[in-house]
Amino acid sequence: MGTWKEELGTSNEAISLIQSIFTNVSDAILVIDRDGLIIKVNAALERMTGWTEEELVGTRHICEICRGMATCMEESTCTDCFFKQVQMPSFEMRLRTKEGKEFPVAASSAQLPKESNGKMVMILRDMSAQQRAEKERYQSKLTHFAIQAQEEERKRISRELHDGVGQALYSILVGLNVVGQGNLSDPIRQHVTDLLHMTSKAMEEVKRMALELRPSALDDLGLLPALRSLMKRVEKSFNIQVELHTQGTRRRYPAAMETALYRIVQEAMTNTAKYAQASQLGIVFEDREKEILVTVVDDGIGFEVDKALHTGKGLGVFGMKERAQLLGGTVDIRSAPNEGTTVIVRIPLPKEGIEDDHSRVNR
Ligand SMILES: Nc1ncnc2c1ncn2[C@@H]1O[C@H](COP(=O)(O)OP(=O)(O)OP(=O)(O)O)[C@@H](O)[C@H]1O
Ligand SMILES: [Mg+2]
Repeated sequence: MGTWKEELGTSNEAISLIQSIFTNVSDAILVIDRDGLIIKVNAALERMTGWTEEELVGTRHICEICRGMATCMEESTCTDCFFKQVQMPSFEMRLRTKEGKEFPVAASSAQLPKESNGKMVMILRDMSAQQRAEKERYQSKLTHFAIQAQEEERKRISRELHDGVGQALYSILVGLNVVGQGNLSDPIRQHVTDLLHMTSKAMEEVKRMALELRPSALDDLGLLPALRSLMKRVEKSFNIQVELHTQGTRRRYPAAMETALYRIVQEAMTNTAKYAQASQLGIVFEDREKEILVTVVDDGIGFEVDKALHTGKGLGVFGMKERAQLLGGTVDIRSAPNEGTTVIVRIPLPKEGIEDDHSRVNR
């Protein structure tokens, strides 16, 4: 390796190259003297902090722009300050801008040779975008686990209701029927008839609750049969005419995808039933090979989407979007007063083909 002089030519050329690097790199570079006074900054530091070179150089101490070194608890501390070390190849600190905002930077510091009289150079890189992305990734992981745990719990309660309480009620019903066939006085017979009536109502209620929590058809038969059964229940309970059109291949999809699509369509239908005063509801289900597109349209009173979502306290639409996003998809809601509502759901199909993960569902 040659000397700098050999590689860079005359000393003037070398200086201008070094100056150009100092000015053009995107990392902030600053030099401080032995007392911590800022004596040299590059343009990136000006952009990062909002302070100009004139406002910084020769007037500000490093502690005026440094808010401490960051710890793993996201707190800042001045204990073991980099300033007390000869060299720190990598650490995190919080930088304070002229406006008083703070943000994280990845830093490194090194004391310059003795002849420099204790000067120190620091290089800083803005980490706010990376930290934000990291936080979003973490948040999305948490949401994923929360949704998964909720589905598992619903599945468990639904099975308990169906197999436990449902079966017990059925046994009572059979027993009451046997009792009813005996030689009973009129008041007792009436009592048994009432009990039979109440028991079969309770059985219906348990079945409805188990279905609402998590229909077994979703795991056993797949998304479309589960949606058809949901449609029937909505038609019956809310007096809305519901139609389903399907396009493309009929097949099973990954369990997470079927669950997400089912829950999104369920929420869209519930919202129509709750708010839209609609008489008709249409669902179009399209398997487009690379993605699933589901459109839910009602002919109801419609609403101002942005206003409702910003001012309302409901979590339904938020949950629909969240579920779609976790699978790389989107939920788009189009509506206006008196123009009905259209919910468009897109979920991409996994590239490696449709994985068969239904075997793990044990109902
Ligand atoms: N199909 C629809 N027709 C008319 N208004 C609707 C429709 N869908 C949603 N809205 C409006 O959008 C609002 C937000 O819906 P969202 O599902 O997020 O919350 P919610 O239903 O009020 O509460 P949650 O779903 O948490 O029980 C609703 O309160 C309603 O005013
Ligand atoms: Mg809702």
